[in-house]
Amino acid sequence: MKKKNILFILSGSIACFKACGLISQLAKEGCSVKAVCTQNALQFIGLATLEGLTGKPVYYDMFAGREAGTEHISLTKWADITLVCPASGNIINKMAAGIGDDCATTLFLSHDFKKPFVIAPAMNQNIYTNPATQAALAKLKSWGVDVLPTAEGRLACGDAGPGRMLEPAAIRAALEKYL
Ligand SMILES: Cc1cc2nc3c(=O)[nH]c(=O)nc-3n(C[C@H](O)[C@H](O)[C@H](O)COP(=O)(O)O)c2cc1C
Repeated sequence: MKKKNILFILSGSIACFKACGLISQLAKEGCSVKAVCTQNALQFIGLATLEGLTGKPVYYDMFAGREAGTEHISLTKWADITLVCPASGNIINKMAAGIGDDCATTLFLSHDFKKPFVIAPAMNQNIYTNPATQAALAKLKSWGVDVLPTAEGRLACGDAGPGRMLEPAAIRAALEKYL
């Protein structure tokens, strides 16, 4: 198996802690993982953890701490698979609207649709069932984005319903066809 390059984008959700387990597993399997964070994801997870798990710098600010300065394009070229995990309601709606106002959403705008782009939604059931979010998910699917389902159950806020992010093992299983 060719060693795959995985661009792992995290957005602002409590499910960031689950994403760390998946990053760790993919790295252990021999994948090369580069992490990208929204500014809000950094409220939930630290750079040191992501750098430690991936062994690479984390891309979170388009205008500072850059290597080449054009990572919003070069990371797209580097990636064999792009995964947004967790995908917040906000990032889903921004991607569907074609907004690129940070590293993560600009990488969606520069995505090459010959390669897989997978999202693992994670949110409260009202955010998930909001007509804006459902329309955004439908639009992303129609463009070829692989939108993973959510699980039903107890959410971090104490509510219950759909929107709970799949467990890392289920997301790993969904990636199998690309690996
Ligand atoms: C404690 C806490 C947990 C949150 N969890 C989620 C979540 O699981 N899913 C979601 O869509 N938004 C969640 N939010 C709200 C997002 O973080 C917020 O919409 C933010 O603007 C998302 O930004 P980003 O998509 O750029 O990362 C949470 C907010 C807080 C304070």
